[in-house]
Amino acid sequence: MLDKNMTVEAAAMENPKVLMELQKLGAEYDFIALESLEDALKSLGENYDVFIKKVEGHTDFKDMEKVRKMNKEELINYIINEIHPQELETIEKIDGIFRGAIKKYYRERGEQLFVIYEVLLLIKAELVSHFSSEEEFEFKDSLAGKNVDFENLIAEHEKTIGLFDRIKYLTRDYKMNAEEPEVKELNKLMYGLDEDMRRHIYIENEILFKM
Ligand SMILES: [Fe+2]
Ligand SMILES: [Fe+2]
Repeated sequence: MLDKNMTVEAAAMENPKVLMELQKLGAEYDFIALESLEDALKSLGENYDVFIKKVEGHTDFKDMEKVRKMNKEELINYIINEIHPQELETIEKIDGIFRGAIKKYYRERGEQLFVIYEVLLLIKAELVSHFSSEEEFEFKDSLAGKNVDFENLIAEHEKTIGLFDRIKYLTRDYKMNAEEPEVKELNKLMYGLDEDMRRHIYIENEILFKM
């Protein structure tokens, strides 16, 4: 696995795309081969996390530029005031559409929808409790300058991603085959929530918890 402390040479051996992406940034390999990957990127004016995403073939999550400029307090406020309420609102909306759709289309696809709805409810319960813990304990303590152990939150993040992976599998990548407008809407909303959640967890694990 790539690591910011490994030399550019070691990183390029580990993953050939490292070299390709460095060249795109105008790097001269011979000069930086023995520097740490992090230092080399810094001197090229590139953010380490952005670089890794390029190498791994993902584009960056949306609106990350402003997020990366935030200080700890701004970031925590952004999560508490925008991300958490929006995600809870979306999952509430999805919950409502599921209940309606299961009733309306019970004969045709009641059971299929129920299996997915069951996982969605697990996610909902997990999020309600997880967000409360962050807001009442870890984030408050972190803002107060206390040394916070984020282990528990990180484990819960993994659990949540696992549940989303399960829904992704059950819906064949949020493409449940259906003509019913409610089911189409569910595909769309769940896809969006999945993206938001992965971004949210990335912001916490990789940016906030390392501040
Ligand atoms: Fe959070
Ligand atoms: Fe979290």
